[in-house]
Amino acid sequence: MMLQLGLVLSLLTHAVSIPDPRQREALIQLESSMQTGGQMVLTDAEQELDVRLFKMKQGEMARAAFPPAMHFFRARDLIRRSPIFSLLQKMPKGGALHVHDFSMVDVDWLVKNVTYRPHCYVCYTDDQSIRFLFSSRGPEPLPRCSTWILLEELRAKMINSTDLDNSIKRNLTLFTEQDPEVAYPSQDVVWRRFEQTFLAVWGLVTYAPVFRDYYYEGLTQFYLDNVMYLELRALLPEVYELDGSTHDRAWTLKTYRDVTKRFKAQHPDFFGARIIFTVHRGVNLSVMTEAIEEAMKLQSSFPDTLAGFDLVGREDSGRPLWYFREALSLPAERGVELPFFFHAGETDLEGTDVDQNLLDALLLNTSRIGHGFALVRHPVAKDLSRKRGVAVEVCPVSNQVLKLVKDLRNHPAAALMSENHPVVISSDDPALFGAAGLSYDFYEAFVGLGGIKSNIASLKQLAMNSLRYSSLSQRQKTEALVLWQRRWDKFVSEHVYQS
Ligand SMILES: *[C@@H]1O[C@H](CO)[C@@H](O)[C@H](O)[C@H]1NC(C)=O
Ligand SMILES: *[C@@H]1O[C@H](CO)[C@@H](O)[C@H](O)[C@H]1NC(C)=O
Ligand SMILES: *[C@@H]1O[C@H](CO)[C@@H](O)[C@H](O)[C@H]1NC(C)=O
Ligand SMILES: *[C@@H]1O[C@H](CO)[C@@H](O)[C@H](O)[C@H]1NC(C)=O
Ligand SMILES: *[C@@H]1O[C@H](CO)[C@@H](O)[C@H](O)[C@H]1NC(C)=O
Ligand SMILES: [Zn+2]
Repeated sequence: MMLQLGLVLSLLTHAVSIPDPRQREALIQLESSMQTGGQMVLTDAEQELDVRLFKMKQGEMARAAFPPAMHFFRARDLIRRSPIFSLLQKMPKGGALHVHDFSMVDVDWLVKNVTYRPHCYVCYTDDQSIRFLFSSRGPEPLPRCSTWILLEELRAKMINSTDLDNSIKRNLTLFTEQDPEVAYPSQDVVWRRFEQTFLAVWGLVTYAPVFRDYYYEGLTQFYLDNVMYLELRALLPEVYELDGSTHDRAWTLKTYRDVTKRFKAQHPDFFGARIIFTVHRGVNLSVMTEAIEEAMKLQSSFPDTLAGFDLVGREDSGRPLWYFREALSLPAERGVELPFFFHAGETDLEGTDVDQNLLDALLLNTSRIGHGFALVRHPVAKDLSRKRGVAVEVCPVSNQVLKLVKDLRNHPAAALMSENHPVVISSDDPALFGAAGLSYDFYEAFVGLGGIKSNIASLKQLAMNSLRYSSLSQRQKTEALVLWQRRWDKFVSEHVYQS
């Protein structure tokens, strides 16, 4: 690469008057060879599909309303009607490496399926939110909500429960038909609602029978979106039964393992799922130390299921990684391998302790970086991430809804993609954003971040990256790539000659 660049530059120094168009072409070629997928050798069929894709993208860019420039809540319907989007839905995308446990499944399913089950109680809090609990006896009052009502009885008294169902639904997601700029004027407001929806969902999904069905449904939705592998960040909560008894974390992890196994048996072309154990970054050092101890234990009991460890919650208001350094260094000190997948740099607070998380994540030997939104402002972190192959998990829709960037053409990962930095695309909390699976984020990355230059090779590289930078063993990666390649070739041959 440097040699080639040197050659082009030496040609440049001889430039007189009008630049030579051949030099110009050489520079353009050089840049495009540096982007994500730029080194990929394409088959004839892939090249033909690329021609088709290019025309589709030109059409997309000529539209009066360009979806990546709009808020996702406004853009969603336009994206759904886009021919590029329907192609991306069918494309085998490999793995989704950054998805959270309780926003995998769209909220319609939660309302229509889960809240209609027997023994479901609802409680309206004094701050306009709701809580749910399944119980055989009727739950105890909570500090912020005094009265629990059996939903079955509430609905029985209504002639029409559509409005009730819609108000429940609005409580379980950030998505709104209102103007999103008015509904969520600041990061503080959107994060507060984020935490409220999380609490509203909690009682529904931590009920044992729902917990199993929810995860199975989540795998189904990703599978139907042509995702073959998942790494799920999971809090591993104490799951409860109807009589109020609870299970421990090992039970929860074992349930993930068993449901995954059942899902694989029913869908042999699904490769599998692994769990990244997560703890909220609001806890103190002693709680984190216990969590790390437990993570090491779980890792040795479930080595195939547990991929590693991470911290969740808003970085700007939680504790920085450095605060937890003693706890997070325990595995290395004991010679235990517990890979880290830290969220880091999901912030625009330049230069603060939180902004320091990126370098600290690398110091603590993270295997990937969640979001890394601030990475381009940290040349040393960026260089280390590239040299060590520590991939950045880019979640465009999430970053936009949580107000780090308005127009996705300005997302910093656009620069990372133009230089083939190790990146993977993921969807973070699709249900909270009114999205599903992985295709919406692929659309935003391909059309918004990638612009007109990104092409079929970029898509192919992004899909392959998602397996290459996964937590799978070398042998499993090879196996997964073979399976993926077969599906990719089929996808290309099925779509190349359609008009
Ligand atoms: C709810 O989902 C479960 C699991 O997928 C399914 O067995 C059941 O039939 C569904 N119930 C309703 C009412 O949709
Ligand atoms: C129930 O109410 C909704 C909106 O209030 C309305 O659209 C729907 O048609 C009603 N359904 C029935 C069966 O009356
Ligand atoms: C949540 O539900 C309550 C009760 O139905 C309702 O008053 C409130 O407006 C809902 N919240 C949102 C954000 O829609
Ligand atoms: C840490 O937090 C836990 C749970 O909130 C609490 O019980 C404990 O006292 C705290 N420890 C310290 C040292 O603050
Ligand atoms: C860094 O993490 C990788 C992957 O978990 C591991 O193989 C390696 O031993 C770790 N290195 C150190 C110094 O902890
Ligand atoms: Zn996340």
